[in-house]
Amino acid sequence: MKVAIGCDHIVTDTKMAVSDFLKAAGYEVIDCGTYDFTRTHYPIFGKKVAELVASGEADQGVVMCGTGIGITNSVQKVPGARVALVRDMTTAVYAKEHLNANIVGFGGRITGQFLIQDIAKAFLDATYQPTPESDALVAKIDACWKGDAKAQADPHYFDEFNEKWARGEYHD
Ligand code: RB5
Repeated sequence: MKVAIGCDHIVTDTKMAVSDFLKAAGYEVIDCGTYDFTRTHYPIFGKKVAELVASGEADQGVVMCGTGIGITNSVQKVPGARVALVRDMTTAVYAKEHLNANIVGFGGRITGQFLIQDIAKAFLDATYQPTPESDALVAKIDACWKGDAKAQADPHYFDEFNEKWARGEYHD
């Protein structure tokens, strides 16, 4: 599996450690930079990772900046990228299994290196578990960058799932 990874200058050391960890675990890692501690800006690297994933050149992505906020916001602007900013295993696996996220993001000054490594691996190893409802949710989210105004605005978009909920077919 090809994993694109990127960061800003604040967390380059953590990114390199995570990259080494993923390589040792058998992933092919494409390091999109930054590569040193010279001041730079996270949108550059979020965009690079997101474009590799969206184009299919990479299967999934891992991004980090100091808080994770800046780089994940940048990633989310690229059509085809679905990023989750996480600090725990449950959220990361949920993002993949239920929302088909293809990039995971971290605050490298917020979450420790070892935890990032374990969470990143859990995210990469998890698989999307499609259901009609989760497919509809992901499609509704994707409509934002697809410019699909009808899907975004349609007040009846979730009617089928609301009816199932009312019939007691869901338990979440
Ligand atoms: C540094 O530019 C810092 O603002 C950045 O790494 C990140 O924390 C932003 O979300």
